[in-house]
Amino acid sequence: GLVLGLEGTAWNLSAALFGDDLIALHSAPYVPPKGGIHPREAAQHHASAMKEVVSRVLTEPERIRAVAFSQGPGLGPSLRTVATAARALSIALGVPLVGVNHCVAHVEIGRWATGFSDPIVLYASGANTQVLGYLNGRYRIFGETLDIGLGNGLDKFARSHDLPHPGGPAIERLAREGEYIELPYTVKGMDLAFSGLVSAAQESSAPLEDVCFGLQETAFAMCVEVTERALAHAGKDEVLLVGGVGANGRLQEMLRVMCEERGAAFAVPERTFLGDNGAMIAYTGKVMLEHGVTLPLEESQIRPGYRADEVEVAWRTEPGE
Ligand code: ATP
Ligand code: FE2
Repeated sequence: GLVLGLEGTAWNLSAALFGDDLIALHSAPYVPPKGGIHPREAAQHHASAMKEVVSRVLTEPERIRAVAFSQGPGLGPSLRTVATAARALSIALGVPLVGVNHCVAHVEIGRWATGFSDPIVLYASGANTQVLGYLNGRYRIFGETLDIGLGNGLDKFARSHDLPHPGGPAIERLAREGEYIELPYTVKGMDLAFSGLVSAAQESSAPLEDVCFGLQETAFAMCVEVTERALAHAGKDEVLLVGGVGANGRLQEMLRVMCEERGAAFAVPERTFLGDNGAMIAYTGKVMLEHGVTLPLEESQIRPGYRADEVEVAWRTEPGE
């Protein structure tokens, strides 16, 4: 059977069809005209693009066994638009709903795409920055940002310098021409904080290339430090990088070096599966369905603050049991 997946927690409305492999994937990204993502405008974008995005992947409706959607975390209005569409499709097709945690889906599609079985995961995206690992039936959050997500921090810095949105790729390009400058490094226990770093970068009078380089080196070193400590603590031997910031070549390089020094394997999924995409929801939904995890319609309300460690990972029984 096939599972239809709908993603739309933030900027990307995306749908996919997953069987034994990915069958179809179609996305309609929302690009804010200026300023950050406006929740109501993103939701309006999703509503207008829904028909096009869904119909592009709805090729074999009679073979669909479930409709999976990202239930949270994310922006309320966007989540609501996607959940409403998912409910309507589930009723129309006569198949159950599967409510997927967006963060868990980033991890699961990453494992699928790389073949890693039990990694420590650095999940660095717009709104989230977390280090996770599977232990006793859940994805535990070993460390995370205490304020903003790394991607949103990079986007904020980029906006203050009139760089194009999303800011991550523009900063990466400029940083290649830059030299190191020191900026505030904040790791508290196993947690991270980025807003002080971003403010200091915004206020710096050094050449823009140097600030971009210093910002990347500092933020990424913080992420690598926490990932390394989680790896040692959990006794695992794989590191998986997921989330939109994972596209950054310098972050990948720093993690790769750390892993080589520790004799751990490092992998990052191909671009399509790194940032928000419907395939991660369809795939995770399929695995959940196969383990009997479905969501009654009356319990299908959105969960804007849904955390990865609230999910009972019924589909994994290996290590740590
Ligand atoms: P989530 O809902 O999981 O928190 P998200 O909805 O913001 O994430 P993602 O697609 O996972 O979406 O990540 C988007 C972020 O990735 C943006 O902040 C963007 O600047 C950042 N990004 C994209 N490419 C790069 C890059 N090359 N270097 C650094 N950051 C990047
Ligand atoms: Fe995401």
